[in-house]
Amino acid sequence: MASTAAVTHPNDLEAYWMPFSSNRSFKQNPRMVTRAKDMHYYTADGRAILDGTAGLWCANAGHSRQPIVEAIQAQAAELDFSPPFQFGHPKVFALASRVAALAPGDLDHVFFANSGSEAVDTALKIALGYHNIRGEASRTRLIGRERGYHGVGFGGTAVGGMVANRKIFGNLLAGVDHLSTTYNRTEQAFTKGEPEWGGHLADDLERLVGLHDASTIAAVIVEPMAGSTGVLPPPKGYLQKLRAICDKFGILLIFDEVISGFGRLGYAFAAERYGVTPDIVCFAKGVTSGTVPMGGVVVRKGIYDAFMRGPDHVVEFFHGYTYSGHPLACAAGLATLDLYAAEGLFERARALEPVWADAVHSLKGTPNILDIRNCGLTACFDLASRPDAVGKRAFEVMDKAFHEFDLLVRQAGEAIVLTPPLIVSETQIGEIVEKLGKALKAVS
Ligand SMILES: Cc1ncc(COP(=O)(O)O)c(C=O)c1O
Repeated sequence: MASTAAVTHPNDLEAYWMPFSSNRSFKQNPRMVTRAKDMHYYTADGRAILDGTAGLWCANAGHSRQPIVEAIQAQAAELDFSPPFQFGHPKVFALASRVAALAPGDLDHVFFANSGSEAVDTALKIALGYHNIRGEASRTRLIGRERGYHGVGFGGTAVGGMVANRKIFGNLLAGVDHLSTTYNRTEQAFTKGEPEWGGHLADDLERLVGLHDASTIAAVIVEPMAGSTGVLPPPKGYLQKLRAICDKFGILLIFDEVISGFGRLGYAFAAERYGVTPDIVCFAKGVTSGTVPMGGVVVRKGIYDAFMRGPDHVVEFFHGYTYSGHPLACAAGLATLDLYAAEGLFERARALEPVWADAVHSLKGTPNILDIRNCGLTACFDLASRPDAVGKRAFEVMDKAFHEFDLLVRQAGEAIVLTPPLIVSETQIGEIVEKLGKALKAVS
């Protein structure tokens, strides 16, 4: 019987089916961490692993930060759970107000979920419901984008555009279509930040309107900066154009800000960076700096108001999760937002961006690098595949970085992605790039 006390050396790795992982190779040579503090993970034998990925794009404030830890501990002792349907607790209202205040324009109502995937499915359902209750029930089509990632629910998988995530799962949702990707290596390779080329690709939405008719389209969902596919910053003007076309045809625009929110691109939300106000924003990850699972959706006032109809006692939206607005997540969220503000971490990310961009682009010329992209505190290195083993080179870089160079990086197909906590110092930026450079050279 496994004890619930600290388990640093599991004696059987077999039972756990790891998500989005190569289970068999992990179990042969595990990349196991047992604790974390600030910019580092630690292994059981005491190695400090520099965190180049803020966990998984989520620990924006760094790891095990004292104010967040204390808030979670105190909350667990005070109110462990409160039913979210028909009952409330003060912190969920407080957090909703805080998140709404960070959101752009009149996005002022927050619906809580527990993950990015749930946030996306919630947003898609709100979009469908919104049109339906306003008498436009023919608007059922959802539009995503090639190379988009919107989590792993059936809705998010359907509007997502990463082939490996979709291909073995049948028809997913009916009536989904996709915009073309914004990436073109010939036109954009080694651009720092948002590429000049590609703003016109938003016109693809006009093509889909021509094909399906606007009266059938409920919403378009995009990541302002596509992350999981390997950091694709939006071409200049692209998001503005998409907004204009959505307005022209009465289509809701959803920004999936699960990774671009909470400082990753130097602002509370990427919407602010690009000066584009969507109708719905999905968030997760950074809202609690990854400490307690939480996701959610912020909607414009008009969307919330549209649902508020019928007699007062009726449920207005038949949707929600047992753990929507969980007290531990709310306590963590409030402490996290306080810490972001106290340490000016969004502004810090913005100020560090040029230093970060120069550092990551200094690896241009390293063998097998086909492209380097950056945006906010993110970067991606596309690698050349070996002819017979797509993805193996990037896997080996990630594995070696951990085992030999004490650096945690993320593998995304045949690419390496970096997204450090926003507390990263300039010295640590140098260290991340140096360690990655060594790992890249070690597998050439
Ligand atoms: C843009 C985007 N949407 C949704 C998700 C899914 O979030 P989760 O893994 O919390 O379900 C992710 C996760 O990386 C993401 O990057």
